[in-house]
Amino acid sequence: MSIKAITSEMLHSKEHLADPYPLWERMRHDEPVFFDEITKTWILTRYTDCVEAFSNYEDFSNRLYRDTLGVVFGPTMLDKDGSEHVIHRKIVAPEFVGKRFEPYCEAIERNALELIEKFPKGPIVDLVDAFTTRLPVNVIVDMLGMDQSDHDRFHEWYTTMMAGLARFSSEKQKLGVLAHEQLAEYVGPIIEARKSCPMDDLISKIVHAEASGQSLTLAEIQAFISLLLVAGGETTDKGIANMWTQLLLHPDQLNAVLEDHELFDHAFSEMMRHSPPVLGQLRYSVQEVTFSDVTIPPDQVVYIQLASANNDESIFHDPREFNIARNDLHMSKERKSGHHGGEGRYGHLGFGLGKHFCLGYEMARLEAIIGSSLLSNFMKNPRLASEADTTFVTKNATRSPLEVLIEYERS
Ligand code: HEM
Repeated sequence: MSIKAITSEMLHSKEHLADPYPLWERMRHDEPVFFDEITKTWILTRYTDCVEAFSNYEDFSNRLYRDTLGVVFGPTMLDKDGSEHVIHRKIVAPEFVGKRFEPYCEAIERNALELIEKFPKGPIVDLVDAFTTRLPVNVIVDMLGMDQSDHDRFHEWYTTMMAGLARFSSEKQKLGVLAHEQLAEYVGPIIEARKSCPMDDLISKIVHAEASGQSLTLAEIQAFISLLLVAGGETTDKGIANMWTQLLLHPDQLNAVLEDHELFDHAFSEMMRHSPPVLGQLRYSVQEVTFSDVTIPPDQVVYIQLASANNDESIFHDPREFNIARNDLHMSKERKSGHHGGEGRYGHLGFGLGKHFCLGYEMARLEAIIGSSLLSNFMKNPRLASEADTTFVTKNATRSPLEVLIEYERS
């Protein structure tokens, strides 16, 4: 029986959206650099090609973000290249890692507990509705030094801005711009006040932070706050949901983690490899560039399909198996270089790689681990509810289940 050649229609089919991994496997073997005629985009699916693309700043630019994020809330570090990006990132990055981030763990704990206390009395909770969609935004609002009573307002702005990033809906984009303007208007006076009277919050630190003698302008800080909500919200939300879904589908591994909460660290790494919440990142080719013997011309849109790279069988053994004890994956905190491969262990690409490597990688991991540990203290014998639907849904380059229904007894 002859096997049909890979076509763009297949990439946009319902079957592929429902489970993209089988077609990506074929692409890695037969057409690792595939030109999608429908979106006019080159798609990279092999781990080695994706690593190379993430690390190639000569031939690629991040400027495509100006057409999405840039339209809704103005320029951010994500759409910058070269030294402009380096300086912008250096101004804010120190607050998000290591010792400087430690004080914010308290905010994670406080906000997680507050949500858990409101869980329904009944034996079933939808973790997405009651916890994951709320925690990341609440933590950012708290870190910024905003009032708790602002949670709902920020949540609404964040949801509208997220919807506004859809490339093909001008109506949603208009609403997204409006939400950013309202948020900017709200935080504007607070930013000004922190200039003369700094407090112990993230806004004050960003207002006064400098790198190479430069600091952020008012508009840049306003855009950065919107970026934090959007880049840190949906992604972490889906990460926690994906991790719990995989654990609930693998009760032996769930039991191991419930017995030893330190293993949440491994569960998070394996989730980021096996079921990454973000599926890929776009780049723009500024000059000719070659991958797996295929040359992509300049001025092309290139998609780094990191979810495929993470499931490349030439790197990870039996990649579609979820296994928090696998010995070919670098577990625990990521390294920016990602693909180290020391002792035969490779890094997942779920946070990207290189200069634009996720700014919130430590924060996302800590939210997932601290939050999950507190959830486990609260829920005795957590298990999938019989009516739970664990189908992963692909939407706007993210993938996760719409709900995570857990049945449990209260501890
Ligand atoms: C599981 C959760 C998360 C995932 C899967 C994720 C994924 C990513 C990826 C793939 C990139 C690379 C973008 C590129 O190369 O073009 C990125 C960048 C970024 N992420 Fe995250 N992210 C997560 C959580 C967070 C959090 C909590 C924050 C908040 C601090 C955050 C803020 C950012 C920022 C500001 C960038 C841009 C960095 C730059 O351009 O230098 N992310 N993220």
